[in-house]
Amino acid sequence: MSSYDVIIIGAGPGGYVCAIRCAQLGLKTAVVEGRETLGGTCLNIGCIPSKALLHASHQLHEAEHNFAKMGLKGKTPSVDWPQMLAYKDDVIGQNTKGIEFLFKKNKIDWLKGWGSIPAAGKVKVGDDVHEAKAIVIATGSTPSALPGIDIDEKVVVTSEGALSLPKIPKKMVVIGAGVIGLELGSVYARLGAEVQVIEYLDHITPGMDAEVSKTFQRLLAKQGLSFTLGAAVKSVETAKGKAKVAYTLRKDDSAHEVDADVVLVATGRKPYTDGLGLADLGVEMTDRGQVKTDAHWATNVKGIYAIGDAITGPMLAHKAEDEGMAVAEVIAGKHGHVNYGVIPGVIYTHPEVATVGATEEQLKKDGRAYKVGKFSFMGNGRAKANFAGDGFVKILADKETDRILGAHIIGPMAGDLIHEVCVAMEFGASAQDLALTCHAHPTYSEAVREAALACGDGPIHA
Ligand code: NAI
Repeated sequence: MSSYDVIIIGAGPGGYVCAIRCAQLGLKTAVVEGRETLGGTCLNIGCIPSKALLHASHQLHEAEHNFAKMGLKGKTPSVDWPQMLAYKDDVIGQNTKGIEFLFKKNKIDWLKGWGSIPAAGKVKVGDDVHEAKAIVIATGSTPSALPGIDIDEKVVVTSEGALSLPKIPKKMVVIGAGVIGLELGSVYARLGAEVQVIEYLDHITPGMDAEVSKTFQRLLAKQGLSFTLGAAVKSVETAKGKAKVAYTLRKDDSAHEVDADVVLVATGRKPYTDGLGLADLGVEMTDRGQVKTDAHWATNVKGIYAIGDAITGPMLAHKAEDEGMAVAEVIAGKHGHVNYGVIPGVIYTHPEVATVGATEEQLKKDGRAYKVGKFSFMGNGRAKANFAGDGFVKILADKETDRILGAHIIGPMAGDLIHEVCVAMEFGASAQDLALTCHAHPTYSEAVREAALACGDGPIHA
């Protein structure tokens, strides 16, 4: 048995970042992790491996569609799927080993195994019970199942199975037009699969700015994805390695069926707190199964904190990381803070989609007077040179004060471009502040500046 200042349960982006910050603040820290490797869902079966496949499949797309135009002639590459998976696994290995190195460097103990909390101040791993002044639950989330649909991770898969399919399917049905469905759907579409996305709502990407969402759907359709919207999936039957997906169209209740080699179920995730013993401890939960916390990530049981996907808020690695750093500060007696109004969201398709702050729909609902500054990447020289003219930047600013309220970008490197708006928003900047900032030419960032100019006297290159 050992004694620690802090024990964190879970080594995903929330947990490992929390551990490093705790150690930097001089706290004796351990992390419980039952997986063979550190990094949680994000590094092992989520963000990182999916980005490797998105990158590889995008390179193929470039070779097929744009190389010849640039005078790069020759045989178009063919897909060696086992090699692409090996590349993805190598990327995972490099990243997870990187966390192991950071743990050693910061003198953080990895308690290998699945942890539970038998009592406040105690964490059990295997037969060992360790003591901790503070415990942080950072156990993340798992895919939420659809009633009547059995996942076998071979024919009917979650994002985990979809990252390691034995072969590229001829026909893939994706249930759910959210982030996972569209990222992985676009990977397989680029690799040659026929991809049909079935979505319950009448639009893709719930919660996203409607104008961006419509453009996004149009661009994905151009890449070959087909969309069946307003459709509720009822069942998935499997036989002889194939699947039959049954759904009804909400507009007329008509029943339909479609065959597929692989069905990706991407209908959301739920907090994962199984086996921790939270009910026996009396830890309060929300009615959606999340650990209830106060503004300082403390649960109702003294000394037990929770962060990341296990609590309320968007299920995003970077939101968990921020909470991990902030709760470490709180535990060390400092002031941890997360500005939930400025958390970007990114979809890593091609083009990327990135968003921060309010959407137009939210501002209308709130009755807020606002103005819109929009700029198309068609007017951006760099984007034109790189076959990346699809999409736009949209900045929403207060009509009176010009303060930036939100930004929505669909286009090249949107996931990176969004951060200058995030920083501006953190400083309470106006659109004019962005517009008056010199932006290097030729860069994609100029499109952000032009959108800011469009909130005032107008963009230059429109
Ligand atoms: P999601 O919540 O983004 O989308 C699920 C979609 O499934 C919704 O559009 C919903 O209307 C639809 N749906 C639900 N039931 C249905 C049914 N019976 N028939 C048809 N459609 C149905 O969930 P997703 O994509 O599974 O992602 C889970 C979480 O992981 C999200 O919180 C997401 O933000 C996070 N994530 C974030 C990534 C990123 O930041 N790039 C990457 C991957 C995941």
